[in-house]
Parts: sequence; structure tokens; C-alpha cells
Amino acid sequence: MRPILLDCDTGIDDAVALTYLACLHRQGTINLAAVTTTAGNTTAAQAAMNSRFVLDQCSLVDVPVAAGCTEPLQVPLVTTPETHGPLGVGYAEHSVDLPPAQPGEWMRLWDEAIHEHEDLHLIVTGPATNLATYMQQRDQLPTHITLMGGAYLYPGNTTPTAEWNSWVDPHAAQVAFKHTPTPITVCSLEVTEQMVITPDDLPLLPEFLHPMLRFYFEFHQAQGEGYQAQIHDLLTCMVALGTVPYQAIPVTVDVETTSQLLRGTTVADFKNHWGRPHNARLVRDADVKAAKRELVGVVKQLL
Ligand code: RIB
Ligand code: CA
Repeated sequence: MRPILLDCDTGIDDAVALTYLACLHRQGTINLAAVTTTAGNTTAAQAAMNSRFVLDQCSLVDVPVAAGCTEPLQVPLVTTPETHGPLGVGYAEHSVDLPPAQPGEWMRLWDEAIHEHEDLHLIVTGPATNLATYMQQRDQLPTHITLMGGAYLYPGNTTPTAEWNSWVDPHAAQVAFKHTPTPITVCSLEVTEQMVITPDDLPLLPEFLHPMLRFYFEFHQAQGEGYQAQIHDLLTCMVALGTVPYQAIPVTVDVETTSQLLRGTTVADFKNHWGRPHNARLVRDADVKAAKRELVGVVKQLL
């Protein structure tokens, strides 16, 4: 059972990804050791309550959830209720209310997961604030890290050049790529925007996701993307687990942190211009049709 630690900013596509992971945990394919949250789509505390709601809907009441860093490393927090709804779960409503996170609780969950599982796989589907903070305070890191973020020679979804997770906390993204002990597997917009759920898929997905996805369909329609939803974080989890075919190339990544205009812009050195070691495996192609089949096949246990 592959040990997994998910760090997310549960929002709607994070919720779909967490549902997928929860189902794999229920069937014994993975061991979802813990879920921690960063601020991004919503606050870290709200993302933790949303994650708890999703896990409870999947009857995984024993998987621990803890809110992590409440603010990006250096810039003020910006959330996006217009994209994920006022609580981060679209039109869904839930009554989950968690007590304030104990100081350091999320780091203890990371410590335990890393110390208990030599081959732990960390998946980051929100801003890299927790990852960067952990790197700055601990020496031991997971052996495998997969991250959703960035746009490489591809239009951003937050500014002309920046993707949301990298824009929310550009300093954290820069720290993560600078200090990672192993190349980070990166799922960026040019790949994840191809992973879409449409209204025709709703009957194949658990009911509690429907009000979330309807909000997300409306958001994407308003953005001119059509009445469908890009599920960035789900594809990222499938790449991390190898449950979807994909290609990746070794690159060196850095992130713009000083320019206001180019804040959060991610740059990949494909030709060793910088003479720096590779710190990323950039996913350049993924079989999104296979990914849809994988999702439907795994979550049908909840129908
Ligand atoms: O840019 C897409 C990313 O930003 C996804 O992780 C989505 O959940 C938002 O956090
Ligand atoms: Ca996310």
C-alpha cells in the first residue's frame, strides 16, 4: 500500500482528488497517512474543514486532517471565492467545524508520516507554503514529491504568465524547487487543463460532489472555458500514483518572486542555460481519457 501524504487547499478540484484518494485508501491500494492544508483557494482552516467533510463522506473518519500555514511566506494571502465558492466547496454546504489547529500539529503529522514510511509520497495540490516551511525547519523530507503548479511556456490562469498556486505563494514555490532533495514531479497547467469533468460525468460521481462541480462548471463557463471543469489536482494525484500514463522530462525550475508584473511566473530551463542541476520532472503529456476511466472506475464504490 503506497503511503501518501496530501497537502491541499480544498477547493473543488482538491475535493475530487481527495475523493479519489479516499476510495483508493478504502480499497487498500494506498495508505492515506494524513491530509494537511494550506491557504489558497480558501483559508487553511476552511480547507481543513472541507477536507474533513470529504473524508467523512467517504467514511474515512480515522484519516487525520490538520490545517497548516495560514499565510504565504512573504506576500499577503489572497483567496478565490469567485472560483471555488465562499467556503471553497462551490454550492455544497456542510456543518463540519474543526477546533483551531494546535500549533505545530500539521508538522507533527508530516514528521510521523515521514518517519513511519520510508517510501512516503507527498502530493501538493495547493500553494507550496507548508512544503517550503517544512523544508526550512526539518532536514528529512519525503522521498517522492509531486506538485500541481506552474505554467511553462503556457498562459497563466491568474496573470498572463502565472498559475494560481505559484502566484499565491511564489516565495514558497521558489524555496521548494531550490531545496528539494529529489526532483519534484510537476503537473502544470499545460497538462492539467486537459483533465475536464463535464455534466455528462455527474451520474458517475458521488452525489456530494455535484453541488461543488456545478459551481465549478459555472465558473469555467464564465471564463470562456465552456460548461465543464478542469480538475487539475485529480490528474496530479494520478500522476503521483502512476495510475495514468504520462511522459516527463528533467528540467531546472525557478520562480519569479521580485517582479509584481511577473509574480509567480515559473520558468523551466530545458537546455541547461543556467548550469544548475535538474530539480524537477516536468510532466509534458498525460492520458486524460485513461484518467477519466480511472476516476469513474475507482469512485463507483461510493455510488
Ligand atoms: O491553478 C490550479 C490550481 O489552483 C489547483 O490546485 C486549484 O485547486 C487551485 O488551487
Ligand atoms: Ca488546489
